[in-house]
Amino acid sequence: VLTLDNPPVNAIGHALREGLFEAIVAADRMENIDRIILTGHGRAFAAGADAREFDSEPQAPHLPDLLVQLERCQLPVIAAINGVALGGGAEILLACRYRIAAPGVQIGFPEVNLGVVPGAGGTQRLPRLTGVGVALQLVATGRPVNDQQALDYGLIDQVAEDPLQAALNVNLSLLSDRQALSEKPSPPADAAAITLAEENAKKKMRGQHAPLAAIDLVDTSTQLSFADASLKERDTFLKLRQSDQARALRHLFFAERSASKPPADINAEPISIDTACVVGGGTMGAGIGYALCNAGIALTLIETDEAGVARARNNVEKIFNSAVKRGLLDSDVANSRFESIRFKSGYDNLQDVQLVVEAAFENMDAKKEIFRSLDKAVPATAILASNTSYLDINEIASVVDKPERVLGLHFFSPAHIMKLLEVVRAEVTGQVAMATAFRLARRLSKIPVVSGVCDGFIGNRILMRYREAIDSLLLDGAMPWEIDEAMVDFGYPMGPYTMQDLAGLDISYAERQRRAPMRDPNKRYVAIGDKLVESGRLGQKSGAGWYSYSDGAKNKQRDPVVEALIHSEAEAAGVERKSFDAASIRNIALEAMFTEAQAILDEGIAASPEDIDLVLVHGYGFPRWRGGLMFYSGNSGKPEMPSTA
Ligand code: 3HC
Repeated sequence: VLTLDNPPVNAIGHALREGLFEAIVAADRMENIDRIILTGHGRAFAAGADAREFDSEPQAPHLPDLLVQLERCQLPVIAAINGVALGGGAEILLACRYRIAAPGVQIGFPEVNLGVVPGAGGTQRLPRLTGVGVALQLVATGRPVNDQQALDYGLIDQVAEDPLQAALNVNLSLLSDRQALSEKPSPPADAAAITLAEENAKKKMRGQHAPLAAIDLVDTSTQLSFADASLKERDTFLKLRQSDQARALRHLFFAERSASKPPADINAEPISIDTACVVGGGTMGAGIGYALCNAGIALTLIETDEAGVARARNNVEKIFNSAVKRGLLDSDVANSRFESIRFKSGYDNLQDVQLVVEAAFENMDAKKEIFRSLDKAVPATAILASNTSYLDINEIASVVDKPERVLGLHFFSPAHIMKLLEVVRAEVTGQVAMATAFRLARRLSKIPVVSGVCDGFIGNRILMRYREAIDSLLLDGAMPWEIDEAMVDFGYPMGPYTMQDLAGLDISYAERQRRAPMRDPNKRYVAIGDKLVESGRLGQKSGAGWYSYSDGAKNKQRDPVVEALIHSEAEAAGVERKSFDAASIRNIALEAMFTEAQAILDEGIAASPEDIDLVLVHGYGFPRWRGGLMFYSGNSGKPEMPSTA
């Protein structure tokens, strides 16, 4: 029994490859044994190649050679898959003669998520085992499968509670005529499956090279010999490993892992949250409530009056219904979770609450009033969080008795889907509140990023600068659709004006009204967006915003009314408009964001450039494969971008 043992997840680094290579050779020479069993120590079989090694020259023994050695063993090799087998870990399985998995394991080829392709025969052995269609589904999307799906696909032979014992019990006569996958003939070509996979990759992983390269390699398995196709695979893997996209995706992979750990100075024990209360059942409050409830936390949702309670109930129910419709929740489970939520008005009966998330509208006085009520209603140990997007958490905390339990937990809409959670650490926020926020984030599968207190925290502060910059471009010569196209071209899923139309223009309008008295009169202010709202154009919901819409959102049209408004505003401001190409638009927008982000770092609002990257990627649609704003900009002070037009 050879056990992969490289904690925490048995990443296949150089030492592991070396040890495994020697062990395979030695085991195969042993007398008095009839099989070699490969398994993993701890929670993983193997999490794939050690991505930390991808920045340096590959060192022998290389995984493809190791797997050839494994396939050549005289003794049958059986994989006892104790935990996740991903990437190179899954490729090891393919080189074994028989595969037994424990219930609940995940098996997959997530290489494309790191900007690479399987580099140790995965794109060649897999289609020989499962056929081209399934192989494409696995390597082109990077999505893993569970034990049952793996069994259905023929990726494994058996599921057993104790895969090691089951491997010891395998009747070897079953394996005597099994060929190594590399010796099997090429699988039949499947042009339709290739075309479909390419179309999906272009749509769902737009702009990324690795998925298309992976599809091409699977296609190659139907045309070239195993040996020739494997050389092509290795060459593609090594080239992609060095690519900007792979470096960017690795950067984010490791940034995400370190984000889940609390800051170094936080060493208090977190509270384990079993009961929580959300104040406000609008879109945000309902999404937050749903996320908490789904994480197994007993939830109370408070509204101001009975009408509010009915609205909140309706909002939360809608989210449950849509989860059932999309197959994310079983309807019985959804019903019982929904029924478990206590909807109520008023602050009585909250003695068992351990965490409150206030998600009321953005008004300091209203929030202070809520926190005063909470201070009296919940235990003195309960953590009090505000979901405010802009307001000063220190000021909110000033009205409660123990302000160290107050912090910001800024969710992003839709709160049950978006991964980002800004954890706003006020001057008064204490250790326990911070530690608890990080534990909660993990439980909700969110990516927590600490922000200091400032207007808009990290994300919305950068967003404000971005909007100012592009609104300015409208006056100077661009049209909203040109700006949208430039940013979509860069990799954003949606342009900023289309996004505003979707979200509703009235929300940001109200926010601009709120800050109007604080505005610097000497700074250029572009009022085009305000004028749209004042003329009743609220975005998709009113049939018109920056664009006009018919048939819901389906038919988005450029609108001459908006064009005329932009021209007249420019004229009124005495601006002579000129044209901007997509690169100039993008550079102006990115430079504005970068300048603000740099200020945020200099002021200590964000702890690191990685944190800013996580905020923009997980909260604002910045293309993941560009690594985030700071990574893209060179990460060292000055954006590496061509100068603006
Ligand atoms: N390389 C290097 N380090 C890795 C790693 C990898 N492939 N996978 C995980 N780690 C590290 C993480 O960085 C983290 O380190 P830290 O404790 O210092 O922060 C630690 O292992 C634990 O990881 P997680 O916090 O993510 O643990 P989870 O239990 O939440 O998740 C996992 C485990 C599902 C295995 C997840 O880590 C994961 O998805 N890993 C990446 C898998 C992957 O992409 N594999 C393909 C690699 S490329 C490849 O194999 C090429 C081949 O074809 C030649």
